[in-house]
Amino acid sequence: MNRLFHLMLAGLLITALSACGTRIGTEQSDQSENAEAIEPAAGSQREEPAEPDGETKRAKEQEEQAMKEDSSFNFETKTVMLNSGYEMPIYGIGTYSLTGEVCVDSVTAALERGVRLIDTAYMYHNEESVGQAVRNSGIPREEIFVITKLYPNQFSQPEAAIEEALQKLDIAYIDMMLLHHPGTGDVEAYLAMEQAVADGKVRSIGLSNWYVEELEEFLPQVNIKPALVQNEIHPYYQENDVIPYIQSHGIVVQGWYPLGGRGYTAELLNDEVISEIAAVHGKSSAQVILRWNLQKGVVVIPGSSNPDHIQENTELFDFVLTEEEMGRINALDRGEKHDWY
Ligand SMILES: NC(=O)c1ccc[n+]([C@@H]2O[C@H](COP(=O)([O-])OP(=O)(O)OC[C@H]3O[C@@H](n4cnc5c(N)ncnc54)[C@H](OP(=O)(O)O)[C@@H]3O)[C@@H](O)[C@H]2O)c1
Repeated sequence: MNRLFHLMLAGLLITALSACGTRIGTEQSDQSENAEAIEPAAGSQREEPAEPDGETKRAKEQEEQAMKEDSSFNFETKTVMLNSGYEMPIYGIGTYSLTGEVCVDSVTAALERGVRLIDTAYMYHNEESVGQAVRNSGIPREEIFVITKLYPNQFSQPEAAIEEALQKLDIAYIDMMLLHHPGTGDVEAYLAMEQAVADGKVRSIGLSNWYVEELEEFLPQVNIKPALVQNEIHPYYQENDVIPYIQSHGIVVQGWYPLGGRGYTAELLNDEVISEIAAVHGKSSAQVILRWNLQKGVVVIPGSSNPDHIQENTELFDFVLTEEEMGRINALDRGEKHDWY
């Protein structure tokens, strides 16, 4: 009954708007959102909306394109719109070095605490564990975003590698697949990922450990623009030249080793400047570093098997670093890589 009433109301609204010749983009899109919300049950009938004229269609396409290219973070929904048209959370959990039960428990703890972005890879030997935690969580699949990666030793047989990832994860589809590093056959492997997108097996694709030079060479050789580039980023290795370059292409940036990586976290978390800023806000050093990333438009995936840390790493949205504080952390850059790639 309620549905029928809305249906009639929407019909009247559509007629009124087309009579007024309305061409305001947002109104047009609101209208179509409403139309979707009142989609009648299968079998019932409704009047088909009139075909949009050329100009309206173009405006709508432009609006959709602009939305896809707006890679700024939404701090309300804690998500970013990827150029693939899918939304991705801006904070998550990384699973490098977490295997077996430790991985299942860590991902489960993260999901229980509201984390919806999980980063794994063929090379982490834990795709099965990540898939198990996702399946057992009881959370609707669509609400969780899983990233995995193909390693260069898989590039010669990318189709088989994609199938292997799908099989190991066993979560129906992969939200994002990245090439883990540049390597022989990377363009062909990427083209195979493009085919997996067309086949509905993978939703978005991207790259990891690609910098300006590598991107300039790579981008003209592929058809689907990467939605994400995942690179090493922390206060001692900031990539301040690379981040804006990637973002200027409408590609979202994600940082690995946000806390410096295992073996390096103590120095970073005890850094005098970061500790001082943390004390001012009543937050931990880890939270300040993660927030600094978010305010630079960098998605964070800290790794942890400690539920207290996992919880702490979600509490990033109740404080804001000032420009001066951002500047002080930016000044800590030493160009100090904590891994070879
Ligand atoms: N694409 C690539 O080439 C690449 C390379 C490396 C990593 N990655 C990805 O990036 C993710 C992040 O890197 P990572 O996990 O190696 O390093 P990380 O996030 O920089 O640091 C992880 C370390 O930080 C500790 N930690 C986490 N939260 C903390 C907190 N709130 N307070 C204090 N300590 C905390 C963890 O210990 P506890 O377990 O005790 O919390 C762990 O020892 C990886 O898991 C992986 O998914 C990608």
